[in-house]
Amino acid sequence: DWLVSENKTVRVLDALCATGVRPRRWRREVPCQERLRITANDLDSDALSWAKKSHETNPIGDNIRWIPEPSRFAKEQEGIVEDGIQWVNEDAKKIMVECPFQWIDLDPFGSPVNFLDAAIQSISRIGVLEVTATDTAALCGSAKTSAARRYGSVGITDSYMHDDATRILLGVIARIAAMHDKSMHPILSLFDGHHVRVSVLLKRSKEVASNWNDQIGYRIRSQPYHFAPQPTGEYSGPMWTGPLFDAEIAGRMTIEKAIQLCAGKEDDYPEDWDEVDIEHSRREIERSVRHISQSADLLSQEHLLIAIDDLGIAAGIGQIPSMKKLKSGLEERGFKMARCHMPEPMFATDADWQTVLEVARLAK
Ligand SMILES: C[S@@+](CC[C@H](N)C(=O)[O-])C[C@H]1O[C@@H](n2cnc3c(N)ncnc32)[C@H](O)[C@@H]1O
Repeated sequence: DWLVSENKTVRVLDALCATGVRPRRWRREVPCQERLRITANDLDSDALSWAKKSHETNPIGDNIRWIPEPSRFAKEQEGIVEDGIQWVNEDAKKIMVECPFQWIDLDPFGSPVNFLDAAIQSISRIGVLEVTATDTAALCGSAKTSAARRYGSVGITDSYMHDDATRILLGVIARIAAMHDKSMHPILSLFDGHHVRVSVLLKRSKEVASNWNDQIGYRIRSQPYHFAPQPTGEYSGPMWTGPLFDAEIAGRMTIEKAIQLCAGKEDDYPEDWDEVDIEHSRREIERSVRHISQSADLLSQEHLLIAIDDLGIAAGIGQIPSMKKLKSGLEERGFKMARCHMPEPMFATDADWQTVLEVARLAK
């Protein structure tokens, strides 16, 4: 009900759906199906036929039916609804400009920049935009010309490059949102494996959008770093310097909840799956949310992010300190500490750098 008023429907778009795996999972896993209006789109007609075929072969079977409303400018909508999903074979930008949605997923090949403006325009008064970016060389700072062209940013390929990548993408979304009088509030922002994935809430508000620049800045490499509105010395950015998570929402993403919602039921498993495949699939679900709920509180506020591998050198102890001892040492001093969902072992804390060094020296 924070998205639409009570009992109203929620229009959801997978703008680049390929095999249709995501909209089909929305159909299976999201509660309150009667309120969802799922549109799945792909420009590639082969991909779309494949997606429709797989939906037909493995139906959801809950008899959900709905008729698409006319889009903006009273135009008839393209595509037909089959078993609760409206399948459309169009350019994603055209659909997003023509129809308002409350939830949009963008998962293109490479950079999402082509689609951001249309997606942000499409989001209604309030809505959620989820974006995947796989052009990590540009976002992490190794492909410098692409980074400058696409994101107007510079990067440094050090321990902070994955956090920088996430923040650079958020910064561009916040900028485009402000152009359309919308403010951006991160819900969940992660670097996972080979991609960046961010989910943000967009709200129409000229007043808040006017201050978008307050949370944009540069990561200055000091000891270990700080954010500043202007670049000096060695820096990466510009990027989003505000919170990365919404504590309330990300805090609920526990392993137990993910297994409960996403693990297949006995009937869902392919016939040729054995115990090993089932276990592997559960482990993947676990891995995808590990550390999210524990770090939700810290990542939704100002925090210091530290790579454990760098800390040993910085503290002059010649070895990597134990994560467990660091946690108890920081907590004994009244600070919070949580391991983050990152490709390399990193943790967030609300302690200052001197305290972290002091605790690291005792945590060998
Ligand atoms: C990375 S894949 C999407 C993968 C999918 N989300 C999944 O989880 O399996 C990108 C898709 O975007 C489609 N695509 C590329 N440009 C498009 C456009 N302008 N409009 C709609 N679809 C497009 C491609 O055909 C491709 O299927």
